[in-house]
Amino acid sequence: MWSSVVSVAFLAATLLCLALPAPAVAAARSTTLSVLSFGAAADGVTDDAEALVAAWQAACRVPRATVLLPSGHRFLVSPVTLQGPCSARLTLQPRRPLQWLNFKWLNGFTIQGAGTVDGQSITSLQNSSPANAPQRSTGHWHSSGAKPTLVRFYSSFNVTVRNIRISNSPQCHLKFDSSGSIKVKNVTISSPGDSLNTDGIHLQNTRDVEIRSSSIGCGDDCVSIQTGCSNVHMKNVVCNPGHGISVGGLGKDNSLACVSDVVAENINVQNALYAVRIKTWQGGVGSVRNITFSNVRVANVATPIAIDQFYCDRGGARCANRTGAVAIAGVAYRRVVGTYSFQPARLACSDARPCTGVTMVDVRLSPAAGAPGTVAPLCWNSYGEARGTMEPLGVGCLQRSNGYAMPLTQPFNYTC
Ligand SMILES: *[C@@H]1O[C@H](CO)[C@@H](O)[C@H](O)[C@H]1NC(C)=O
Ligand SMILES: *[C@@H]1O[C@H](CO)[C@@H](O)[C@H](O)[C@H]1NC(C)=O
Ligand SMILES: *[C@@H]1O[C@H](CO)[C@@H](O)[C@H](O)[C@H]1NC(C)=O
Ligand SMILES: *[C@@H]1O[C@H](CO)[C@@H](O)[C@H](O)[C@H]1NC(C)=O
Repeated sequence: MWSSVVSVAFLAATLLCLALPAPAVAAARSTTLSVLSFGAAADGVTDDAEALVAAWQAACRVPRATVLLPSGHRFLVSPVTLQGPCSARLTLQPRRPLQWLNFKWLNGFTIQGAGTVDGQSITSLQNSSPANAPQRSTGHWHSSGAKPTLVRFYSSFNVTVRNIRISNSPQCHLKFDSSGSIKVKNVTISSPGDSLNTDGIHLQNTRDVEIRSSSIGCGDDCVSIQTGCSNVHMKNVVCNPGHGISVGGLGKDNSLACVSDVVAENINVQNALYAVRIKTWQGGVGSVRNITFSNVRVANVATPIAIDQFYCDRGGARCANRTGAVAIAGVAYRRVVGTYSFQPARLACSDARPCTGVTMVDVRLSPAAGAPGTVAPLCWNSYGEARGTMEPLGVGCLQRSNGYAMPLTQPFNYTC
């Protein structure tokens, strides 16, 4: 437990540190800066964003610094952007609920708990007394009425997020955009299954990502992997409830989309619409390559295995048919086991660009108890091979490319 006495001691240390010439600062092993030392009221009513930014700016200049939001206090922080570049190995350590955090231009940064980033408190505060709502916003979140992401990283590298809970986001919970070398570990995300568009972890234009030992419950994709992502590794992740792990939707409005080298292993998906899904819009270009889903346990998942190259989210209105498609090549499903409530597998690939190199090994899916009625698996333009146990048998309905070679497709006319 940190007391304010400790914080005052750190204040002294801080001032000392900042007064020291640069070489002496660099020699310091680590420095902890408490927001209490930077004027945080910590009463849960006053907006402490300014104190947080001040502590951040001080810590940013000191190598290996930690910004601490001590326990035993309630901090109210309106949306802020905490930005770099900063000295290496900066850590933010919230010990109590915090709200919307926006980070950019960081290299070598850690956010770690145990604390909660909760969207509920600030939402209800704004609803109950809009006049008192924190106005010290960094821009568009309030003004446009757009729903914010709770924790967002932009153009940041070598970032670790661990031992925190993120709950009740009005939209996406944890987002990485144009970033790389990301580690997410022991993170718990929880929002109700009926909360709209609440992705758990959202990745775009981000490479070299490791998501481990985390539990995600939300109303949309558990992990959403968008264009520009590669080398994404998920291990020991629980998704319950939600829409499962999802690559895409890619290629909307005829856009170029590229995703490659994704591994999801030891994944447990429950009470979800899908478990592992790849979705692309008609008309896009680009590719999805080298995706492996292995050791996936499912329970009460509507459609555990899905490829949908006819993805269209425009409500009842149908999307126009188009010929182009983001190509899908090299997707493996190994040991996908458990219960489904609607259709065990649905591989709906494009007429113009059939899916190739799809592999299924040991897939065992049975109807969930009380499922109102199930339909048979579907393979449409999906080429590859099935090995090992297939239950139900039709789940391995992949078309053989062997003998008939690959399906006839036009050469890819893009570079990823
Ligand atoms: C990444 O950050 C860690 C810890 O902050 C540090 O040890 C490592 O050297 C950094 N690596 C790069 C490539 O910046
Ligand atoms: C995981 O994070 C929680 C806080 O959300 C913490 O209490 C727990 O000790 C962490 N577990 C490990 C193994 O670090
Ligand atoms: C597929 O992706 C995985 C994960 O990034 C990688 O380890 C592996 O080398 C890739 N395989 C090919 C053939 O590129
Ligand atoms: C698209 O093509 C499918 C299959 O050929 C057809 O059933 C559907 O009606 C078409 N949709 C539109 C909007 O034209």
